[in-house]
Amino acid sequence: MPPDTTTAPQLAPHSLVHGSAAVVAEIVAGLAAAQAQVSPKFLYDALGSRLFEAICELPEYYPTRTEAAIFAAHGEAMARAIGVGSTLIDLGAGNCAKAAALFPLLQPAQYVAIDISADFLHEALAGLQQRFAAIDMLGLGLDFSSQLALPASVRAEQRLFFYPGSSIGNFTPDEAVAFLRRARAQCGNDGGVLIGVDLVKDSAVLDAAYDDAIGVTAAFNLNLLRHLNHLAGTDFDVRQWRHRGRFNGAEARIEMHLEARHALTVRWPGGARSFDAGERIHTENSYKYRQSAAVGLLEQAGFQANCVWTDAQGWFAVIHARAIGQ
Ligand code: AVJ
Repeated sequence: MPPDTTTAPQLAPHSLVHGSAAVVAEIVAGLAAAQAQVSPKFLYDALGSRLFEAICELPEYYPTRTEAAIFAAHGEAMARAIGVGSTLIDLGAGNCAKAAALFPLLQPAQYVAIDISADFLHEALAGLQQRFAAIDMLGLGLDFSSQLALPASVRAEQRLFFYPGSSIGNFTPDEAVAFLRRARAQCGNDGGVLIGVDLVKDSAVLDAAYDDAIGVTAAFNLNLLRHLNHLAGTDFDVRQWRHRGRFNGAEARIEMHLEARHALTVRWPGGARSFDAGERIHTENSYKYRQSAAVGLLEQAGFQANCVWTDAQGWFAVIHARAIGQ
């Protein structure tokens, strides 16, 4: 039976199919590099997405609850700043919960949920469409980190790119500007962004958030190796690796690495790489910004900050910015 297109969210096929030549080439090039590295987007298979949800429940991981408190305290002010009837484009929607909490206030005309992990997205959107029948919903399984082509089914008017959770921190500052410029190019003249940015703070707070006591972040990082085995046919043995997560103050970023517990060799179809004991694979950067620097990034990309909301400790900022003329 064909899906009921009047209520069922549409779902485009996702791009991270295992065996995809481009994905395998990207992974293998990173593993073979002098400083081995893997994009943090590969942290999010089905299990990785669930482990990230668990991270968000940890007492040490302050960003999610701090941002949620900002949305709870200032949601109405945000709705006044933004207005109703927008095309809400959720970048990295995950379980869609953050956007869903804003629906009653923002009353979007259309909700476009984009995530690299399409299976996860599908489950979340199906439930949401039942609860908010009036909102036109669309799910897209896309890797939006390198390009942001939107299908014609995305409304052109009042596009609001919703990028919460400080995911912008996964980009270098230059990449973040390039990414925001691509969003700006899709905005017309009546669009904007609503973005969450994690702010620079005491390094002890940062270190604990990315190396928690019960090891959920370690599991999240290590699970990447299982995902690579599935995607690229590598033969990583997870037990041979250890999680590292630490603030690099000079670069203003958390760095996550996986460190070889002893000398070992990883093989994949057509190649191999040896690691010394203690040698690392760089798996994630999570940049932290001062508020002024975050506003500066938006300005460089063709946006003008309209409102900035923060928590009392100044740990996290939510910024609404409008597209300005190019
Ligand atoms: C989803 C990129 C915002 O950087 O805090 C959490 C990912 N990594 N713990 C972050 C993450 C380790 C998270 N972002």
